[in-house]
Amino acid sequence: MLVLGIESSCDETGIALYDTDQGLLAHALHSQVEMHAEYGGVVPELASRDHIRRVLPLTESTLKNAGKMLQDIDAIAYTQGPGLSGALLVGTSFAESLAFSLKIPTISVHHLEGHLLAPLLEDNPPAFPFVALLVSGGHTQLMRVDGVGQYELLGDTLDDAAGEAFDKTAKLLGLGYPGGPALSKLAQHANTNHGTPRFKLPRPLINSHDLNFSFSGLKTSVLTLVNQHQPLSSQTQADIAYEFQEAVTEVLTKKCMSALRETGLDNLIVSGGVGANAKLREKLNAATKRKMCKVSYPRLEFCTDNGAMIAFAGAMRLKAAEIQHENNYSFSVKPRWNLSELQAP
Ligand code: KG4
Ligand code: ZN
Repeated sequence: MLVLGIESSCDETGIALYDTDQGLLAHALHSQVEMHAEYGGVVPELASRDHIRRVLPLTESTLKNAGKMLQDIDAIAYTQGPGLSGALLVGTSFAESLAFSLKIPTISVHHLEGHLLAPLLEDNPPAFPFVALLVSGGHTQLMRVDGVGQYELLGDTLDDAAGEAFDKTAKLLGLGYPGGPALSKLAQHANTNHGTPRFKLPRPLINSHDLNFSFSGLKTSVLTLVNQHQPLSSQTQADIAYEFQEAVTEVLTKKCMSALRETGLDNLIVSGGVGANAKLREKLNAATKRKMCKVSYPRLEFCTDNGAMIAFAGAMRLKAAEIQHENNYSFSVKPRWNLSELQAP
């Protein structure tokens, strides 16, 4: 079965074709990062308008790259939420109307389920059950995953998400949007004094006896450092960036290892934009190796938003549920949608 996947929940238009026998055939992405950069964050109305401009040409080029025609598509999976309502409406209305014209079923996909299952797109995918760390701009969650739609929340952030903390801290350091990649690049220039970094930031909740996170205090500590060291030299910027990244990745790693221990599982997957962070991968690789556990990640381009993860999640649900074509001429988006509301197909 050939599934077209459409992602438009935020500032990336992602399109992909996934075949349940042959795997991922083609995918295309348009990132709006440059368009939003001058505003320091995503402007929702600009995002929706850009999705409208991109969705059709990207679908056409993805079909062409896969050597397929519209009539070859068996089902359309699209992100129904959570996300920006206007942006979601573009992908949703496009998917539903195209499916209606082709008389094929649609599968509405939860954006985070897309992220969660993205590591399974790679060769030698991890088998269920596993512990998942979902670290994106909007979420920092640890979950036990027993199968598609079988998600048990183990821990969550009490305030800022990890990606949000990266973005806000990057802003305090005078870096552009999105801050995560820029901050981690800057951290490479830090003077680490042979293992004794110049600054010391707190590791929030690292010893709490639960699997929750809190990152907003870290941002306040960074603000204090920034104010104490005005004017900020580029070396100080790099030294702060380094210690911030150390603090966040150390906490994330410790909690992942606690989650593995508490669930008795030996398989970890990491997904979402912050999953692209090299320092986080380095720490998780070392920690899981020490405990003889396995860790899997999506390829770098599938850590951040993309159409492939939506096509894949849709295909998994389609395969499991034998969804029948049913079009009641209506659709809706779910800008707020809790992952725990999902059920197994
Ligand atoms: O998953 P994603 O594309 O979008 C959401 O659904 O939120 O994640 C975007 C987030 C942003 O906060 C961005 O700064 C962060 O992921 N990010 C990174 C890196 N690449 C992206 N954070 C740290 N290091 C990176 N290399
Ligand atoms: Zn995302």
